[in-house]
Amino acid sequence: DKGGFKHFMAKEIAEQPTVIAEAIRSYLPTGSDKVQLPGEGVDFASVDRLTMVACGTAYYACLTAKYWFEQLARLPVEVDIASEFRYREPPIPARTLALFVSQSGETADTLAALRYCRDKAERIVSVVNVPESSIARESDLMLPIHAGVEVGVASTKAFTCQLSVLLMLALKAACDRGTLTSDQIADHAAALRGLPSTLNAALDQNDTIRSAAQKLSEARDVLFLGRGLMFPLALEGALKLKEISYIHAEAYASGELKHGPIALIDQQMPVVVMAPRDALFDKTVSNMQEVMARKGKVMLISDSKGLAEARDGVWSTIQMPHVHPSLTPILYAVPAQLLAYHTAVAKGTDVDQPRNLAKSVTVE
Ligand code: M6R
Repeated sequence: DKGGFKHFMAKEIAEQPTVIAEAIRSYLPTGSDKVQLPGEGVDFASVDRLTMVACGTAYYACLTAKYWFEQLARLPVEVDIASEFRYREPPIPARTLALFVSQSGETADTLAALRYCRDKAERIVSVVNVPESSIARESDLMLPIHAGVEVGVASTKAFTCQLSVLLMLALKAACDRGTLTSDQIADHAAALRGLPSTLNAALDQNDTIRSAAQKLSEARDVLFLGRGLMFPLALEGALKLKEISYIHAEAYASGELKHGPIALIDQQMPVVVMAPRDALFDKTVSNMQEVMARKGKVMLISDSKGLAEARDGVWSTIQMPHVHPSLTPILYAVPAQLLAYHTAVAKGTDVDQPRNLAKSVTVE
């Protein structure tokens, strides 16, 4: 049932405030700033290292979480694509927590990577949407993301629920390892509780994003740029656009621009820049100016402060509400998803069932 929407993907994008509220409630009980895990939980004070493994969008959720675990909990993190990890057979040092992220819980490469870690890692934890899945069953601890059934082949609400659960897990790690003050933890908890209404404000930008997508739909190639937490999100934005609109899209860390991709920039090249007004904003803006100096068409996604400072000469803008800096990837996922969605609709592709793709990749 598409619930009045034209596509499952549109419905699932719109459901995000509700399902994320549910995910947050289940890990952050009302009246407390302490993240609670099911079962025996995890004590991050007894872990020295985190290895995260996944495929596709779930891999980008892991890349995002690396920034959180490292910055908030000072925990060293490695992130790997499951199909690489399993055949590289990496050494797993003592006191390593192995974390697998999968919407379906049935992805063959992720399951094989998990089996490789059995008897090597200290603990095997999975972040899944399907609690009865193979990956869930074979983990020591399973953390559900509470996204509900996701039908669209392009993952949307599962991605933001994965991010929400991973951020709460990083906060738990920060708490266990004593790396954040109680005020910092309380700020994060308050920001998480406010997230559903902030996401609604982002969804309210739907019409602006539809017009921006109209322009994107004429492009042959699109670049996505971001720094820090916006880099993995740029990768996810490019993947979404490729998957459902079939437009060739690539993402780079903004700082990599002058190491090669800037050679691609000309009047034909839209460049989507994701840049909340954070500590790295000025650096991203200077990369954006390098694009505009070469006549590239910049689509800037930022908050009111960022747009006020940097909108001059920009081709297109999308305004996001202001949010706590740690939460920007969850919020900015919404315009990334809606851009891909409306571009695909404008091109007339099969949004929910794109060519050559399956919802669950249970074979190699
Ligand atoms: O079920 P999983 O999360 O393990 O699936 C991983 C990828 O196959 C999946 O995220 C894929 O990249 C999606 N089509 C992305 O939209």
